[in-house]
Amino acid sequence: MVYSNILETIGKTPLVRLHKTVAGLSAQVYAKLESFNPGLSAKDRIALHIIERAEQLGRLRPGGTVVDATSGNTGFSLAMVCAIKGYRCVLTVTDKISKDKLNNLRAMGAEVILCPKDVHPNDPNSYVKRAEQLAREIPGAFYANQNFNIDNAEAHYLSTGPEIWEQTGGRVTWLIGSASTGGTLCGAGRYLREQNPKIKIIAVDAYGSVLKKYHETGIYDEREIAPYQIEGVGKNFIPGNVDFELIDRFIKVTDKDSALCTRKLARCEGIMAGYSSGAVLQCLYQIENQLTTDDVVVLLFADHGSKYISKVFDDDWMRKQGFLPAEGEATVEVNTAAQQEVI
Ligand SMILES: Cc1ncc(COP(=O)(O)O)c(C=O)c1O
Repeated sequence: MVYSNILETIGKTPLVRLHKTVAGLSAQVYAKLESFNPGLSAKDRIALHIIERAEQLGRLRPGGTVVDATSGNTGFSLAMVCAIKGYRCVLTVTDKISKDKLNNLRAMGAEVILCPKDVHPNDPNSYVKRAEQLAREIPGAFYANQNFNIDNAEAHYLSTGPEIWEQTGGRVTWLIGSASTGGTLCGAGRYLREQNPKIKIIAVDAYGSVLKKYHETGIYDEREIAPYQIEGVGKNFIPGNVDFELIDRFIKVTDKDSALCTRKLARCEGIMAGYSSGAVLQCLYQIENQLTTDDVVVLLFADHGSKYISKVFDDDWMRKQGFLPAEGEATVEVNTAAQQEVI
């Protein structure tokens, strides 16, 4: 099969069964490996869909500029689509971004503006406010606005959801994914719920994010906001692409457990997935007692581990965070009673 350009290779990612990391669980567990997209993440799907919708609606014209606030992956995907279609790409990111991701964005031709991570979302220096400002100021700019543009979730409703339904032969009973903009989980989840109203949809959240409390109480509580390390999990504001009605539960996971699970995926399954994928696996462990032998669980693994070589796959970084013992060999710790081996 020959493709006319790289954008045609987006989507149709594999669904792969997990074994050693889920030994002892009664359900069958599969991972949707979004790292197989050419930009190594699920965000390729939304970048292409958002830009093509903007073109169709006349919001983005030849010679235009695409602007967005992004933790890295969406920016990389937008830059890739811009490279093919000939648009300028301007991105704001927080200084939490890994060096690998930053270099990747620049490699793809994006102009990157670093913004402080620990400021109030309404602060003019926050990465979202800066992107809004740039979109207003740059002539011919289109603000992709992944947090509120519903074409984000629609991309997953039209592609990721149907793929999972088809790949599981309609047997999927649980969908677990991290929610940041909410597009991946809610877009795919909405499609799956339409096929089977009994499917459980679980969102992974971080300590330091406001989403879980908002889901449970309807209160946006700024006191929940705190710095954390996992990228692509949780938010410090309420994004428009999170469908709170659709999601059954939000479950919080720690930076440490998520990092250890990410490393475990590589060593036990040969799956080099990103930090948020480890968070999703950790979430599975926290609900494992609710699963039965009839369940088919799909974990959304959003991106590739190569983007975190200087974070979770760096023993020194792990030790500095207190996630590994200070001395001796790096170990992969396991977080469930069912799986106490240390590798
Ligand atoms: C690494 C990673 N994982 C998960 C997500 C969550 O995806 P979504 O924004 O669709 O909720 C993102 C998005 O920011 C991400 O970059």
